[in-house]
Amino acid sequence: MKLTRRGFFKGLLLATAAALTSCVYAFAIEPGLRLRIQRWAISPKGWTAGKLRLAIVSDIHVGEPYVGLARLERIVAQVNRLEADLVLFLGDYAAGHKFVSKPVKIADAAPILGKAKGRLGTYAILGNHDWWDDRTAQKTGGYPNLYATALEAAGIPVLSNRAIKIGGFWLAGLEDQLALLRKEKGIIGLDDLPATLEHVTDDAPIILMAHEPDIFPKVPHQVALTLSGHTHGGQVRLFGWSPIVPSRFGGRFAYGHIVEDDRNLVVSGGIGCSILPVRFGVPPEITVVDLS
Ligand SMILES: [Fe+2]
Repeated sequence: MKLTRRGFFKGLLLATAAALTSCVYAFAIEPGLRLRIQRWAISPKGWTAGKLRLAIVSDIHVGEPYVGLARLERIVAQVNRLEADLVLFLGDYAAGHKFVSKPVKIADAAPILGKAKGRLGTYAILGNHDWWDDRTAQKTGGYPNLYATALEAAGIPVLSNRAIKIGGFWLAGLEDQLALLRKEKGIIGLDDLPATLEHVTDDAPIILMAHEPDIFPKVPHQVALTLSGHTHGGQVRLFGWSPIVPSRFGGRFAYGHIVEDDRNLVVSGGIGCSILPVRFGVPPEITVVDLS
């Protein structure tokens, strides 16, 4: 078939329109407007604590125009409609990119997060951006942390290398694995998995919150479920493959429910973005895990 000049320009126009539409979708609609509920039903080996619903919100990365206070209110209202037993925030409240038209302070965002209600409570951990964004904490190398202080003031306990018993299970929170930026030593974690698990004083199953999933290969079998965020599913994900994943394991822990050696990990795709405000194929999500 001979390609006519008119046909060529018509094709070019269609290709340009498709590329523009994809850009608008990836830079505006998917990151800024979409929200889905991603559900996982999991029965881990050794889970003895009955039915338990977790509503998980990760990587909020506050900042207008993508994640402003009004959108945060809508996300929390959606969380409350899920009637979860536990609401868990998995870190990275701080803006993760520079394309912010108006910063949102954690002091303003945290009271909204504090409205999220789980039957057994709402708990949080910190992520790398919550440490990187707090200059004083970077200097001192530890707490107090601006984000933790705001969350605690809003009634949300922040679990930093500790575990607490709730009913028939333990809820553990690992401190961030990429917390401190050091010129001479690179990136240093404040995570301490052995110290976290030392709080566990019986055989009841454990749910572990760890912002980065890279800890997963070291997590022992008593941890029935590890919950992570950080990767945003790669932010761009096509047919289950992401070209860039911030993990030393590449795509192994990029997204979703992963089972290895009878141990379970769920990686939330999160809400916001880092580096660039782009999402394609991994819309912002509230992650729901139904344990039984
Ligand atoms: Fe992160």
